[in-house]
Parts: sequence; structure tokens; C-alpha cells
Amino acid sequence: MAIFKKKKEYTIDDIILPEHIGIIMDGNGRWAKKRGLPRSAGHSAGANNFRKIIRYCSDIGIKYLTMYAFSTENWKRPKDEVNSLMKLFKQYLEEALRDFKDDTIVLKFIGDTTAFSDDIQALMKDAVEGSKDRDGMVLNLAMNYGGRSELVMAAKNIANKVKRGEILPEDIDEKMISDNIYTAGQPDPDLIIRPSGEYRTSNFLLWQSAYSEYVIMDKLWPDFDFNDMNYALIEYAKRNRRFGGV
Ligand code: FPP
Repeated sequence: MAIFKKKKEYTIDDIILPEHIGIIMDGNGRWAKKRGLPRSAGHSAGANNFRKIIRYCSDIGIKYLTMYAFSTENWKRPKDEVNSLMKLFKQYLEEALRDFKDDTIVLKFIGDTTAFSDDIQALMKDAVEGSKDRDGMVLNLAMNYGGRSELVMAAKNIANKVKRGEILPEDIDEKMISDNIYTAGQPDPDLIIRPSGEYRTSNFLLWQSAYSEYVIMDKLWPDFDFNDMNYALIEYAKRNRRFGGV
């Protein structure tokens, strides 16, 4: 006789949420192509979805959220596409500053932000300065971010400390690397979500993701909604994290 075990349907109220989530916002271009629209329309839909998902994560109590908005490699895209992304970043930053007083999100940028135009850099600075004393979710926006260049930066910082005689080479350990990257002081991401079905890290949080759980989803970023987020959270909660142990 077959034994049927009742399958429990979990909801996010039943599970322990990850403390830090990273999201690779992929699939904007394909979303636009499917609709016969220019790629910029996909990015614009992606930016609207970004607004919804960051709010959702903050509402459900996520402590740290890192969103991959622009990589060190994305400058290679056609000028029009890069310009349309810059326009969206500027719009979002202006909007964030306009609606600033009611918000609880702490905004940070990870990546080499000196590559952006002066007006975008000024908005970034105001957003960081104006949100730093809040007590809500930390939103790391990865802009001109690359995991490899982040590690090069850390190596240079540490090498300079050795050169100045502040530390010895044998003092270098994993904590020192973690303290010299953009996310210094933050927990490593527990969960990294990649919509659009690609099985790649794309240079995202290379050091920090050593033991992150990946959830790859077959949804393009502009279509990725709260149900998809809940699915990823429940999938994460089912994983048995061993961190190399047994
Ligand atoms: C990758 O998808 C997506 C990007 C390079 C840009 C991500 C940026 C946004 C979602 C806008 C963020 C906006 C703000 C305000 C932070 P792709 O275009 O490479 O997709 P494809 O693989 O389908 O071509």
C-alpha cells in the first residue's frame, strides 16, 4: 500500500529569512525583445521592478539587500544603452532624495563610483549621507561593481599597509580581506537570486558568496514578482547549509 505523506506548503511566515540577499537583475533585454521594444524599455521596466522588490524586502524584514545594477563590464554596451541606464539611475536617486524623510532604508553604493558623471556622484553622496543614520534595511546598490576589481582594490589597500609598515604580510588573513572590500562590516549574502535562467555569477560578490545559496529562476527580471521572491525564500529555507562541514 502506498503511503502518502502530506506535503506541507510553506509560506514565508513559517521560515527563517536570510539576513542578506543579493539579486542579479538579469533579463531586461530579453524582456524587451520579446515585446518588440528597445532594450532601454526593458531596463525601464527593470528599474520599476527594482523599486517594488526593494520595498518588499524592506517590508518583510530583510536586513541587507545587494542589487546588481551596473557591472564594471557593462560600459562595453552600446552608448545609447549605457545612457538610458544612467538616466534611470539619476531618476531613481532624485526620487529617493525627494521622498527621503519617510523612508527607513540605508542606501550604500558598492563599486567604483568615481566613474559616474559628477551629477550622479553628487546624488549618490547626498543619498548616502542623508540615509546613514536610519535603522532600516541596508540597500547596497552595486554600480560599476566587479568582484575581481573589488579584490584588486583590497590587495592594493593591504599592500600599501605593508609598505607603510603598519602590518606584516603574515598578518593578512580572511578577515582582513573582508574588511577591505566594499561590504566591510556586513554579513556575507546568505542567498543570491538570479532570474532569467542563467547559471553564472557574472563577477557578482565573488569573495562574499563563498557559501551563499544560489536560487536561479526562469523569470526575466521585469516579470520577477513577490511570488517569485517568496519562492526563492522558501527554496533557501529548505537548503541544508553546512559551510564545508558535515
Ligand atoms: C542585465 O540584464 C541588467 C542590467 C545590466 C541592468 C540592470 C539595471 C536595472 C534593472 C535598472 C536598475 C535601476 C535602478 C534605478 C537601480 P540584460 O539587459 O543584460 O538582460 P539580457 O541578458 O536579457 O540582455
